Amino acid sequence: MLVILRRDDEEIGRQAAQLIASAVRKKPALALGLATGGTMVGVYKHLVGLHKQGSLDFSRVTTFNLDEYLGLPAAHPRSFHHFMRENFFAHVNVDSRNIHIPDGTIHGNYDQYCTSYEAAIRKAGGIDLQLLGIGRNGHIGFNEPTSSIGSRTRLKVLSRETMDDNSKFFAPGEESPRCAITMGIGTILEARKILLLATGEAKSAAVAKSIEGPITSAVSASALQLHADVTFIIDDAAASQLSQRDFYHRVLEMTALLTPDRLS
Ligand code: F6R
Repeated sequence: MLVILRRDDEEIGRQAAQLIASAVRKKPALALGLATGGTMVGVYKHLVGLHKQGSLDFSRVTTFNLDEYLGLPAAHPRSFHHFMRENFFAHVNVDSRNIHIPDGTIHGNYDQYCTSYEAAIRKAGGIDLQLLGIGRNGHIGFNEPTSSIGSRTRLKVLSRETMDDNSKFFAPGEESPRCAITMGIGTILEARKILLLATGEAKSAAVAKSIEGPITSAVSASALQLHADVTFIIDDAAASQLSQRDFYHRVLEMTALLTPDRLS
């Protein structure tokens, strides 16, 4: 696990975009796992900037989003489909046939739909690089506390805390969704490389438990300790409860010296 500490969300967005861009340049037909949410806005802004400057081509990239709210059609302004279109897909050249986002409008037979989402990931050769945010309760995707570490793409009931966090994005009186379709923790752990971003003090407890706490289904992101190639990129506020910050800084310095490829 590599922990990259940066000052603020601007630096986080730039650093994450650089890592994604270099993965796409190394492998133009990259299978890229994507996330939504406030933390990701800066990442997509920088990726769009690199594309507009002519230095980043997404034409052969295939994308798989982590999750979508159940009950929201793609056109709903709070759907993750809408978020992705507004922040990323409308501004870059990902082929629309290569974009995969769970369908929030499915009714019944959820298992069959989720199995087909997993099959699409397999058909693409598996996810090369998975981008993740983290919830205040340690969720990744919408794998809420007590999700099985081996879980696969499925229908998931959202926790009260997540619903409260999401309610600010919905109009007053509009109920925020109670369920989502999400990749499972087992699905996420199969990605070849994982990049988790966190900003702000509200995430600091979840970040500390994920990196330095025991592996537990009570904190879904702690399962990332089982993965061989995970990079956390976190700002000062989100890192404030980590007890080994000096060590992470030293590891970063040595990484820049000995294996700079990991940081570019
Ligand atoms: C979104 C997702 C979630 C978010 C997390 C953090 O696709 O899977 O796990 O990454 O809830 O959201 P923000 O960045 O809005 O704090």
